[in-house]
Amino acid sequence: MSDKYPDDSGRRRFVKGVVGGAALAGVGATTAAAVNTATMSSGSGGGSTAAMAIENIDGPAPRGMPQIPVEIDSEGYLKGVWPEVKTVEENGVQIQIAETENYNGSGVTYTSEWFQYCGVESYGGIDPSYESDNYFISGGAPGYTWQSDAYSEGDRLHVDDFSDYQSWSNGVGDPGLGKPATGRWRSEDAEDTIPIQVIRSEEIMEMAKDDPWVKASTQEGFVAWLDKCTHFCCVPKYKTEGSEKFNAENDVYCQCHQSVYDPFSLVETLFVARPRPSE
Ligand code: FES
Repeated sequence: MSDKYPDDSGRRRFVKGVVGGAALAGVGATTAAAVNTATMSSGSGGGSTAAMAIENIDGPAPRGMPQIPVEIDSEGYLKGVWPEVKTVEENGVQIQIAETENYNGSGVTYTSEWFQYCGVESYGGIDPSYESDNYFISGGAPGYTWQSDAYSEGDRLHVDDFSDYQSWSNGVGDPGLGKPATGRWRSEDAEDTIPIQVIRSEEIMEMAKDDPWVKASTQEGFVAWLDKCTHFCCVPKYKTEGSEKFNAENDVYCQCHQSVYDPFSLVETLFVARPRPSE
């Protein structure tokens, strides 16, 4: 189900004609994809974006990592919400976007552009119409021992497996701050894997009481984000062995160049989202 623009082949020809040179220049495009030039950059989204993020508090990263609003289904499985897919016209061209205005009454516009950096803009799962049930999936080499014990590769994260979140510890930092998991999202039939991390924490529950965005984007103390360091795109981790040396034992730490993120501080970040490649 990956035919991205089923009834729009005329547009595709047009886009290819315009940006063939850019595709040859190889700006991270995959084989069949062309990259938008300046004249077409609005054609597949991108540009100035305000995203809600877990705050960057140290190291060279320019900003926080974007949040993924969390939902728990009726059976207790965790999902990342994908914004509403709409067809809009921009510069006389019909394009698809994924955007939810005033997300859950928070006043925040949640859009898939939040995730368009570090090459993720070209991942299949970031295409607005990529078909997915949006569950958070545990991978083959999860970041925590508890997770390897509880899950096999491909299992969905379940709320019951986080019930000891008020006491959990992996020996790094203080116990009881929150229970984390690593995983992937919207990646099941795609070439590229979108890495995510979730934490269930009392802290988030408290914050949700009087912050409209935290209330809207988290559930039962679960917060989630796209786990790609905004510095050079490594995959950071909460409570990483060795992070004590950098004062990051209770935070999310990137081993590549020591960037630190606070998962209990959700802030607005401004950046220029990269356009998605067009076919
Ligand atoms: S600090 Fe450089 S990639 Fe994370």
